[in-house]
Amino acid sequence: MLRTHNCGELRITDTDKNVTLCGWVQYLRDKGGVTFLALRDRYGLTQIIAQDSKSSPDIIQKLQSTGREFVIKITGKVVERSAKNPKMPTGDIEIYAENVEILNPSKVPPFLIEDETDGGDELRMKYRYLDLRRNTVRQNLELRHKMNRFTREYLDNLGFIDVETPVLIKSTPEGARDFVVPSRMNKGEFYALPQSPQTFKQILMVAGFDKYYQIVKCFRDEDLRADRQPEFTQIDCEMSFITQEDILDTFEGLVKHLFKNVKDIDLPKVPRMTYADAMQNYGSDKPDTRFDMKFVEITALAQGKNFGIFDQAELIVGICAKGASEYTRKQLDELTEFVKRPQIGAKGLVYVQFKTDGTIKSSIDKFFSQEDLQKIGEKMGAEKGDLILILSGEANKTRKQLNELRLEMGTRLGLRDKNTFSALWVMDFPLLEYGEEEKRYFAMHHPFTAPKPEDEHLLDTNPGEVRANAYDMVINGVEVGGGSIRIYQRPLQEKMLGLLGFSPEEAKAQFGFLMEAFEFGAPPHGGIAFGFDRLCSIFGGADSIRDFIAFPKNNAGRDVMIDSPSPIADAQLNELSILVKK
Ligand code: AMO
Repeated sequence: MLRTHNCGELRITDTDKNVTLCGWVQYLRDKGGVTFLALRDRYGLTQIIAQDSKSSPDIIQKLQSTGREFVIKITGKVVERSAKNPKMPTGDIEIYAENVEILNPSKVPPFLIEDETDGGDELRMKYRYLDLRRNTVRQNLELRHKMNRFTREYLDNLGFIDVETPVLIKSTPEGARDFVVPSRMNKGEFYALPQSPQTFKQILMVAGFDKYYQIVKCFRDEDLRADRQPEFTQIDCEMSFITQEDILDTFEGLVKHLFKNVKDIDLPKVPRMTYADAMQNYGSDKPDTRFDMKFVEITALAQGKNFGIFDQAELIVGICAKGASEYTRKQLDELTEFVKRPQIGAKGLVYVQFKTDGTIKSSIDKFFSQEDLQKIGEKMGAEKGDLILILSGEANKTRKQLNELRLEMGTRLGLRDKNTFSALWVMDFPLLEYGEEEKRYFAMHHPFTAPKPEDEHLLDTNPGEVRANAYDMVINGVEVGGGSIRIYQRPLQEKMLGLLGFSPEEAKAQFGFLMEAFEFGAPPHGGIAFGFDRLCSIFGGADSIRDFIAFPKNNAGRDVMIDSPSPIADAQLNELSILVKK
């Protein structure tokens, strides 16, 4: 080893030891005759010191010739510091430099390598190796490593087997867009990268593997957001001979195991909510249950008062923001602007303030008497000091808009603390959703999800009403995982694919291998996949998954460090039989 210790481990008990440390120069300071240098590695910071009066001019000159991010090796004696720094684990000591070797100089880094950096996103991604030197980013990856280890520990203990599935597979028209890879040996044909190992894990169940898991890369060519990357990682799991209850128990157990071991938090039993209730009470299939502020529908109560906007509305629905009655005109205008943004698309916002002095003020005073407003307040559970916010219009759209407003109010009122965790199972999703544009049904989860046995008879008559044995785990309003009980018999799978618009020939060409497998003794089975990056970011208290991925892509799907994607040479294109229009 080039070093005897790392930069985070020396303590007062090491005083007088001769040590050698290696690391990066965090900073260098010359304080009138004393040179200080902070040396950094993955484990921490240690102060190095040299004094004009005691050290050789050569050592002082060497130290002073270094700069930020130089890689150096220092040998010297551990001494007690006169001015201790209680904030630093090594803050009781410093190293009196006796030998300094510059292992490699560094250019001046383009941004500060500190917890609070001055580098913008793109710059940090271009120099990702510098960004990864920052404590915050490194700690996120250490957290990810821990999450990975405890996931494996939990599943291994339950007898799950880790099986790798292929990355070059077959493109399918369902789900998100595929990334495709041209095949040189099969001209004009393409592999697809897996959006998930879904069909393979089901095949493993047919093969009798019984309990499978894999921490696996998945690829989806979708538009990117803070919680989406084109390549991301799933904790992918499948089990045979189970009921939905068994899956919920097993994977609630996994999440509890992670909270306990990684954050020392005892997560209470995860409550359950049906999809229908989630939509009605929160306007979202992934409600943030860290705070209440449930929707209250007041359509009947608020109509017939000659307020045209309400009278024409399919739904009038509101939320009660506790303690917000004294919002200023400016704050109320901000909220109105917020809901009118094109991304949200509401036409306007109605408010009723139940002021602390007992008066009621609203934006609809012209149409509603104090008594009318009082009634609305009662229905919505408003007390003195509360603010009611109401939206109206077409039912589904209005619920979605109010969901955004609810989240915004939650944020404004400080109800979305990153260190509070509220997990939830959302259950009983519809099996299908109707695409108005395409005029056909789509699988809400995926085409392999089983209908609830009690709803199966509706498949022929009213497919839109069929509920699925499908479930999502939501934490703090983020969908961290989803799964379902699967179809395992050919006739039902054929029927399902038919409902999704596949002709029998197309169904056979796309999924014939799976349906054939179902004819060779497929056990009843089901599973789930967690978004590993999302789970890590929630544990780390961050909104974006990017900083929990060592080498993420930017919003345009580019890796700006290696500059990818990139054009390839004509010769390579020719070999792949791909014609590119120039
Ligand atoms: P699903 O498509 O719901 O299910 O994906 C499972 C979980 O993966 C995460 N996720 C993503 N994370 C980051 N970036 C993305 N682009 C992205 N897309 C999805 C989410 C999601 O809950 N095969 C099924 C699972 C099953 O039925 O067992 C599947 O892939 O957290």
